[in-house]
Amino acid sequence: MKNLVQEIEKLKKERRAVILAHVYQPPEIQAIADYTGDSFGLSQQAAATNAEVIVFCGVHFMAETAAILSPEKTILLPALDAGCLMFDDMIEQALKKKIQEKPDAVVVSYVNTPAAVKAMSDICCTSANAVAVVESIARDKEIIFVPDRNLASYVQEQTNANIFSWPSCCPTHARLSKEELQAMKEKHPQALVLMHPECEPEVRGLADFIGSTTNIVKEAKRSPNHEFIIATEQGVLYQLEKACPEKSFYLASDKMVCSNMKKTTLEKVKSSLIQLEPRIIVPEETRLRAVGSLKKMLAICG
Ligand code: 13P
Ligand code: SF4
Repeated sequence: MKNLVQEIEKLKKERRAVILAHVYQPPEIQAIADYTGDSFGLSQQAAATNAEVIVFCGVHFMAETAAILSPEKTILLPALDAGCLMFDDMIEQALKKKIQEKPDAVVVSYVNTPAAVKAMSDICCTSANAVAVVESIARDKEIIFVPDRNLASYVQEQTNANIFSWPSCCPTHARLSKEELQAMKEKHPQALVLMHPECEPEVRGLADFIGSTTNIVKEAKRSPNHEFIIATEQGVLYQLEKACPEKSFYLASDKMVCSNMKKTTLEKVKSSLIQLEPRIIVPEETRLRAVGSLKKMLAICG
């Protein structure tokens, strides 16, 4: 593994590349990244970096975001089949229909959506800034919030906005049941529960803190407590253990693993740097329609 890491480092310099990794990626991928973060942080980095090549270790829609924001750069996705199970392919047509039914509504879409959906949206959001994005919209406007119904209901609770929520959800977060979390709390009575807003509402009722992955890490650092139950994807444990080696972290459920996030390997990163493939390219016409919704998000929350 050491040799492979050295080869990646060498290729990275030769290619003038930067490696961005989502915090749900496997530990060995987060370890070689120049920047790790949640989807909001990664989109900020993708917009700001001077590198000519971005190796995006995450899922397809996140790399597409980088391609929309930085069309002049080469965007590589080492695991081309890393999709997101929050979607079905019908979303684009269904959203078009919903917009026709509600022509005055403001469309807020999660950054993990296909470029074609971003192109139909007024503004994008991530779990880190969804509340701020919705608060930036006039109070009398109805909002079509797409696609995570759990993030939508969390934002609704925080803002009281008039939200039409899409029926989809993130299966990784939705897999955590109230009973399983209750059992973890009984096993670790001193632990605080730090949770991602994409968990189901009845599960969120058992949380001590709700926030994006970046905010979960900040809270674990800030809190005087020493034990935590972590209710988000398993990859975050790498960041938490690095940031707070003296504290204990227990994953709320061993089912909270996103198979798509785990498709990136060091071999695939190396191969992408050698071949400059698989490359993510968004057709210019779609990109031009999609870039506005991302830039609006970055302007509000950057
Ligand atoms: P963020 O907290 O980075 O938005 O992550 C949620 C998620 O499920 C990304 O795939
Ligand atoms: Fe999609 Fe959920 Fe996996 Fe993120 S964690 S890529 S939202 S399925």
